[in-house]
This record gives sequence, C-alpha cells and structure tokens, in this order.
Amino acid sequence: MKITDDILYVGVNDHKVDLFEGQYVVPRGMAYNSYLVKDEKTLVFDTVDRNFGDEWFANIKAKIGEGPVDYLVVQHMEPDHSANIAAFAAAYPKATIVASAQAFVMMKNFFGTDYADRRLVVKDGDTLSTGKHTFAFVAAPMVHWPEVIVTYDTTAKILFSADGFGKFGANDVEDPEGWDCEARRYYIGIVGKYGPQTQALLKKAAGLEINMICPLHGPVLATAEEIAHAVKQYDTWSSYSVETPGVCIAYTSVYGHTKEAVMKLKELLLAKGCPKVAVSDLARDDQPEAVEDAFRYGKLVLATTTYNMNIFPWMRHFIDHLTERNYQNRTVAFIENGSWMPQAAKVMRKMFENSKNITFCENVVTIKSALSAESEAKLEALADELVK
Ligand code: FEO
Repeated sequence: MKITDDILYVGVNDHKVDLFEGQYVVPRGMAYNSYLVKDEKTLVFDTVDRNFGDEWFANIKAKIGEGPVDYLVVQHMEPDHSANIAAFAAAYPKATIVASAQAFVMMKNFFGTDYADRRLVVKDGDTLSTGKHTFAFVAAPMVHWPEVIVTYDTTAKILFSADGFGKFGANDVEDPEGWDCEARRYYIGIVGKYGPQTQALLKKAAGLEINMICPLHGPVLATAEEIAHAVKQYDTWSSYSVETPGVCIAYTSVYGHTKEAVMKLKELLLAKGCPKVAVSDLARDDQPEAVEDAFRYGKLVLATTTYNMNIFPWMRHFIDHLTERNYQNRTVAFIENGSWMPQAAKVMRKMFENSKNITFCENVVTIKSALSAESEAKLEALADELVK
C-alpha cells in the first residue's frame, strides 16, 4: 500500500481471526495497520496483533534493512496494536517509545515496564520532529480507549487516526460494499458509545488541512472525496443522527408467528411508501449488523415473545447493545407475542427508560400466539403511524 515516498506501510492482514475483539465476525479478515516514516530519524506508528509480530518485523526490515528505528509511537494500547511493544523494545534497544502518560501506565500493566529510561510522554499539542516531518499529537480520549492519541503530520498533512476511521476487513480483500458498511459496523460496535468524544475529535480535526487519513484498520483514505465522505459519516454516526430514512425491524420468533407479523409489517410499510425496511432475525443474523441498522435508520420496531416473565434472551441482549451505546434520537415501536400473559412490550419499553429522546409509537401490537384479525388491524395502524 503506497502512502508517500517516505511514509511506508508496514502493517499486516489477518485472515485467521475468528472473532475480532472477541465478538465481531470479520468474514473479510482484519488489517492491523502500521506505518514507517523514513526521515532523518526513523519512526514507526504502532505495532500489530500478537500473532503477526514476525511478519511485522520482516516488513520493517524490508524497508530499512538492519537500520535503526528511533521512535515507536504508540497511539493506542489495545492489544490488536500494542501486543508487540515489548518485542519491539527488545529488537530496537535504542528506540524511544512515544505515547501518552496513560498509555505508559497500561504498558506497565501489560508488559511489567513503563520504559521510564527510554520514553517520551506526549500530551495534546506536543510535537516531535524527525527531520523533514513534524508530528503534532492530539489527545483523543475514548476513541476508543482513554489513552488514545492521534497524530498529525504537519509536513505531509496526514492524520494518523488510530482506531478512528477504521474498518473491518483485511486490506488485501476487496470489499464489494465499499467503505461505509464495514466502517459503520466497526464504528457503531466499537466506538458507538463515545459519540461526544468522537465529536470532540472531529472538531479538532476540522481545523486541520488533511490530505490523507491513515487509520490503524482498513484502507488509507487518500482522496479529498474519501476524506470528506468519511468525516461526514463520522459526524452523523457520532451525533446519533439518522443516516438513512427507513425502518429497522429486529425480531426473535420461536415458532414463526412473530416472524409472520414482522414480514406482514414489512410488506405494509413498503406498500405505504416507506423507503427502506431492514429486517434482522436476532437469533440467526449477525447482531452487530442489526445494531448498526438500528443506529442507521430513524425508526426501530422490536418484535419478541414474552419468555420466563421477561423477553426472549436474544432481544434482551440486543437492547442492551443499543442502550449501552447511548441509543437515542429515534422512534421505537413494539410487537409482543405471548400465549397466556403477554408483557414483552412493557419489559422492552422499560429497558429504554434511561435513553435520551426516544419517541415510542402509540400503537403497540399484541399477538396472542398467532396473528388474528385484531392484531393484523393493529399492525396496519402501526404501519400508518411509522410512515406518517
Ligand atoms: Fe483497534 Fe481499539 O483497537
């Protein structure tokens, strides 16, 4: 991957990972990006996942041979990027480790040392020159951990954005869906809770002239159009704004009756002019994809059964994923099923009691075992309310 004549890609692609960060399926693999700056001093941005240390060292050697590395900048301490710090420190004993104060505390916890004799602690606004390039460090707390810094190359006008603007998928596999889909699933799933912190970072970045964004996952954003689009998407996602008009329906169904109601509602919504209806079976489809859709569209319908005086577990799990990511500014509707004492709607509504700016639809559809003329009429009323 070409960055510039003197900023070289030394990252790796992971096609073995089963679940990224222990929970996300990544059918197109994952990239752990790392960048080497070949200046009067040599500088490397971030290490890679523990399984790819040898490949990463080989990538560095392929660029500089046995030459020294003077600085390792650690922008983020999550192990997908930090796992090889100790190995790097041993391989390049004269290198200085550059990171935030909090990152060094984490290094001590991970590796038993905070490199007190060979470190440079940087804070927001500090700079480091390697000769031609001067790097300015920008604090980006909680995008995605508290110790994160991002780095602006004031010479080449490149933003090294850590997890920000990252994407699921290895860099050697073309993603037929383009950047948005897996960048959105990545952002909502991994950083989604930290909208205000991401907004703060966007505000800092807005004052910079940026020719290129180099994230720690996924492709480099190299054109003005790509950068403007990604920044616009990040602004929408981190402000919890609606990205796409339409309805997301997430459901669980034990014997198919709740599913039947969901499919009927989808048909009604489309017939009444709803521009898009995205449906997820929470027991069978990818949950992070359903979470992504809930944040993407302005309206959400949750359909589930009453179960053990509560709701079906996959739905409880799903709503937890929404509320813990500060789900807000949305319209939410409920379809409940129950063969003797339906109460799923009440349980689901209560789960949003601390969520901001949620409008609940007046029409709650109650199914007693299977659809009836009465519940079908209620579905129609709900469809009308949703497209209103
Ligand atoms: Fe890619 Fe938060 O680590």
